[in-house]
Amino acid sequence: MKIMIVGGGGREHAIAWAVAKSPLCDKLYAAPGNAGISELAECVDISVMDAPKLVEFAKANEVDFVIVAPDDPLAAGVADAFLDEGIKTFGPRKNAAIIEASKAFSKDLMKKYDIPSAAYETFDDADKALAYLETIKPPYVLKADGLALGKGVLICQNLEEAKDGIKEIMIDKKFGDAGDKLVIEEFMTGREVSVLCFSDGKTILPMTSAQDHKRAGDGDTGLNTGGMGTFSPSPFYTDEVAKFCEENVYQRTIDAMAAEGREFKGVLFCGLMLTENGPRVLEFNARFGDPEAQVVIPRLKNDIVEVMLACADGTLDKINLEFEDNAAVCVMLASDGYPVSYKKGFEIRGLDSFKNKDGYYVFHSGTKFAEKEDGSKVVVTNGGRVLGVTALGKDLIEARANAYKATELIDFDNKYMRHDIGKAIDEQ
Ligand code: AMP
Ligand code: GLY
Repeated sequence: MKIMIVGGGGREHAIAWAVAKSPLCDKLYAAPGNAGISELAECVDISVMDAPKLVEFAKANEVDFVIVAPDDPLAAGVADAFLDEGIKTFGPRKNAAIIEASKAFSKDLMKKYDIPSAAYETFDDADKALAYLETIKPPYVLKADGLALGKGVLICQNLEEAKDGIKEIMIDKKFGDAGDKLVIEEFMTGREVSVLCFSDGKTILPMTSAQDHKRAGDGDTGLNTGGMGTFSPSPFYTDEVAKFCEENVYQRTIDAMAAEGREFKGVLFCGLMLTENGPRVLEFNARFGDPEAQVVIPRLKNDIVEVMLACADGTLDKINLEFEDNAAVCVMLASDGYPVSYKKGFEIRGLDSFKNKDGYYVFHSGTKFAEKEDGSKVVVTNGGRVLGVTALGKDLIEARANAYKATELIDFDNKYMRHDIGKAIDEQ
C-alpha cells in the first residue's frame, strides 16, 4: 500500500524507518520529511499544517494510509481532514487530540473519571490566579493551557517568581493563545516515566516504557528543551507500577474519552510521576514522543504498519504487541546554544558510518541538504536539535556505552550533547 507520514523530525524518521521495512508498504511519502527521511521516503514540500494541500496530494497520489505524527497538526484537525475524505488515517481527531492540546481539559477529564493526578485549579482571569497563589505553598506549578512547544510549564520556587510567571503566561501572552487559561497544580516529587500506548478507541496496548531528559545541561541543569535524549525501558517502571497504571490510567482514560464522545485512536502518551503515594499522571500527549519514539520504535518486534492499521480499523484486540528484551539509548546531538540561539548550516560528517550497522541508528531531527560549490550535495544542520543517535544493547548500561561510542562517528561544527543520558540507571 501507499503510505504517507506527516511530519519531518526525528520521531517521524524513526516511524519512517519502521514503516519502510514493513512488507505492507510499497511506497512511502513524507510531508515535509527531512534529509534522513528522504533515504526512505519521497519527501514532498508541504507544511504539516496545510490540510487542504496534504489531502489534495494524498488523493492525487492514491495514498492508502496516512500517519499524522506531530502535535500541532493533530490539534488543528489535520487527521480529520483526511478521515473526512475517506482516507484511512493513524492519529486522533481534533476532538480527541484535545487531551494534549488543553491541559484544563485533561485535568478535568482526570478528575471526572478518577484518573490519578495532581490536585489543581484552572483560571481564565490573571487576578484570580494571582490571588489563589497567596493561599497555597511553594513550589508552584503553572501550566499554560494550550500547546507551547513543551515549554508551557513553569515550576516556581517562590511567590515572586510565580507571580511573574502568571503575568508572562496570561498577560504578556508569552505562549500566545495557549495562555488564555492557566492551570495551577499541586507540586509532586518522584521519578518520571513515559508510557506510550497504541489505542483504537476501545482497546489500549501499552508499549515498553521510556524516559526523556528535558533539561539542556548535564545533571538536569539549564533550560528545558524538546528533549536531549531518552532511554528505554525505565528500570523504575516495575511490574507493580505497570499493573497500577493498567488498572487506573490507560484503559480508564480511553474509556473516559469514548464516554465523552471523543474516541481516541492513535498513540496516547502518558507522562507519569512515580510519587510516594503511587503513580500520578503528569500529562497526556496525543502522539509519539520525540525523542521517545527513537528508543521505543527500534525495540518493537511487530510490523508497525499492521499495528497502526489495527488502531485505525478498531481491531487492536487482535494484536499481540511485543518488544525485544533489550534496551535502547538515544543521545541527541544539538547545536551549541540550543534552546536559545544557535547557528545552522554546518556540514555533517560521518552519517554513512551508520549504514548497515545493526543496532545503531541515526535519526534526523533538524537537517537538510545543501549544495557545495562543486555541485555536490551534503547534509547540513538545520535546527537546534540536529540528530538523535540511538543504540541498542543487552541492557541499559551496554546501550548507553554503545550510543555514546556511536556519537563519536558524527561530526559537525558546534556539536553539543549531554553526557549523562540514561545515567539514572547507574544509581540502582
Ligand atoms: P508536562 O508538560 O505537564 O509534562 O510538564 C513538564 C515537566 O514539568 C514534567 O516533565 C515535570 O518534570 C514537571 N512537572 C509537571 N507537573 C508537575 C507537578 N505537578 N509537580 C512537579 N513537577 C511537575
Ligand atoms: N519528549 C517529550 C515529548 O515529545 O513531548
